[in-house]
Amino acid sequence: MQTRRTSEIETIAEIHQQLDPIWPTGRRQDAVAGSGPNWVLRGTNRPVSVDELEGRFLCEIVSQTNRKNVVEIGTGFGYSAFWIALGLFRTPKSAGEVHSFDTLQEGGIGRKGHEFAQSIAEMCSFGQLMNFHIGSSREIGKNFLRPRSIDLVFIDGDHNDGQPYQDYLSLKPFLTDDAIVVWHDHDDRYSVPDDVNRVCRDGYEKLIFRSSCQMAVTVRDPRWSQPVKDAFQTSCEAKA
Ligand SMILES: C[S@@+](CC[C@H](N)C(=O)[O-])C[C@H]1O[C@@H](n2cnc3c(N)ncnc32)[C@H](O)[C@@H]1O
Repeated sequence: MQTRRTSEIETIAEIHQQLDPIWPTGRRQDAVAGSGPNWVLRGTNRPVSVDELEGRFLCEIVSQTNRKNVVEIGTGFGYSAFWIALGLFRTPKSAGEVHSFDTLQEGGIGRKGHEFAQSIAEMCSFGQLMNFHIGSSREIGKNFLRPRSIDLVFIDGDHNDGQPYQDYLSLKPFLTDDAIVVWHDHDDRYSVPDDVNRVCRDGYEKLIFRSSCQMAVTVRDPRWSQPVKDAFQTSCEAKA
């Protein structure tokens, strides 16, 4: 397959062109200005991706805290993985990569999400940083992760019945001491708020951000609280 390389701005525009927008001003009424739309694959309803502001936030967290080894649970069609990889690419002396996992269970789109994710990787200059795997969060660790090697996790798979906490537990042995865990959909319609509170018992501080779907970021090293808050501010300004 031929590989095309385009600038970041062109790539973002090209990705958006191939998707359908939903929730034009954000899913939640209390979302900050500049929120929305979130995205779905053209002609589908699910899965739904983060919006651009949330994507930029992921990108900024990664680059401002110098993350290297990222795991994402819930690829969807690769939109959030794109922003994480852009953050890795912008990190000074970056040698990192993101491994993203999906069971393909949501929305009945089969392999289309996985294939779209691969096509995003092919169109950008840092596509080699993105690795997409078909599989469940339950099997990730034992397959190939090294103990205490993962410094950022984005949990955006099944949001119900404590599964986000189970996702965290499956990765816990592989997290560095200063790991950052980012949670999408910190919203009462899901179990995510309870799951985040449970993780705080492991010594994490919880930070909540009023993005389209509301995100929580849990940090164990207090050094990262301010850079994460700054990352949100930068993302809001970039989207304003
Ligand atoms: C909200 S979507 C992810 C959107 C993506 N993070 C983005 O913003 O571009 C959730 C995805 O998680 C997947 N999923 C659900 N449970 C999972 C699990 N236990 N392990 C891995 N993926 C899972 C679903 O198939 C779905 O594609």
